[in-house]
Amino acid sequence: MPVIAILGAQWGDEGKGKVVDQLSEEASMVIRFSGGDNAGHTVINPHGEFKLHIVPSGIFYPTTTCLIGNGVVINPARLIGEIDNLNNSGIDTGRLVISDRAHLVMPYHTLLDELEEKSRAGKAIGTTLRGIGPAFTDKTARLGIRAGELLDKKGLLERLSSIMEFKNKLLTKVYGADPLSIEVVFQQYCQYGERLAPHIKDTATLIQTALANDELIILEGAQGALLDPDFGTYPYATSSSPLSGGACLGSGISPKCIDRILGVFKAYCTRVGGGPFPTELNDEMGDLIREQAHEFGTTTGRPRRCGWFDAVAARFSHQINGFTGIALTRLDVFDILPELKICTAYKFNGKIIDYFPAGATDLEKCQPVYEELDGWQSDTTHIREFDELPAKAKKYIARLEESIGCRTNIVCVGPRREQTIESSPVL
Ligand code: IMP
Repeated sequence: MPVIAILGAQWGDEGKGKVVDQLSEEASMVIRFSGGDNAGHTVINPHGEFKLHIVPSGIFYPTTTCLIGNGVVINPARLIGEIDNLNNSGIDTGRLVISDRAHLVMPYHTLLDELEEKSRAGKAIGTTLRGIGPAFTDKTARLGIRAGELLDKKGLLERLSSIMEFKNKLLTKVYGADPLSIEVVFQQYCQYGERLAPHIKDTATLIQTALANDELIILEGAQGALLDPDFGTYPYATSSSPLSGGACLGSGISPKCIDRILGVFKAYCTRVGGGPFPTELNDEMGDLIREQAHEFGTTTGRPRRCGWFDAVAARFSHQINGFTGIALTRLDVFDILPELKICTAYKFNGKIIDYFPAGATDLEKCQPVYEELDGWQSDTTHIREFDELPAKAKKYIARLEESIGCRTNIVCVGPRREQTIESSPVL
């Protein structure tokens, strides 16, 4: 059985949760490998509607092990809240495993995220304010605290004391904020540790055993390729890699073991927070897409910026991820539109270009060059076979496939599990 990575291919919020939920039925393991509770994966299934932020979307299947990988940063309070919510809905979380190498989001991270955003003034990134950037900064600076450290209170106190002494200087002397009490944070994290201890493990052995047994493993992405800190619209990016390369690093699985890389694209584009977005629609059409598709952030509730499908960005996303197939979500949002547009190139400094510029300032200057297509203006939400889609919808999909250079495996025509069309086999 293969290892399949399911990745956000645009600026996040592509509907990965639904796709993972669907494919998890046959999986023995689902691994989240990046981000933290900045992510928000909506899953609608026979158990109800759930908004997951850290728990992998495979949690609804009783035989699927759900693993929070080493590449994730975990806010323990939020994770415990999510576990409680699931348990209250009758979902068993006994198969949730947390890598002892995963880093923790600490109270000073969320505080610093807010203070840093305020200090950026007009140039704010528009982060989710979940402390994600500061937590990954500390991981790289060797100032992070890992989940495994919650299991050793004496060691935790030692490290926390020296780290927090430094963080309190930063809070008080740089930002003029109040210091945090080391004792209070220590006691709080000891409690979290006691609660999460049964889940915290060395995940390497579990993963290697599943690989050796040829079991189906899903690597669940968070955010999207264009928020990658290297290849995304830096500095308007997140702090961990949502790419296929990031899937290997954040789980401890060799690139040699990954058989399928499914890129999840929406039929249009959205982004939340600041940063360039060439196909953004600041008009009635943008509002119509937002209302029609309920494009409001799962984590922050912010209205998402909406725009036409950007095939230049999509091609770039395919190049840096190496997709073996595409899951195209939310096609039904276009059911009412008489005309659709696809951005096939940019006009940049008077020239037509077909590549995605590295710098946010250059991308800000890019004007979209559009190709227009007819809309199909009929309801697709009940369709389950690709051949039954309206001819104009099939033409739209074919143009997207052609411009990205990759075939669709899945087309989604609604949020529910069954509103899915398999256009070609994923596995
Ligand atoms: P951070 O990850 O909270 O630091 O936010 C950095 C940027 O990534 C901001 O523009 C956020 O809006 C964006 N971002 C983070 N997580 C998500 C997500 O799950 N979906 C969409 N955008 C996200």
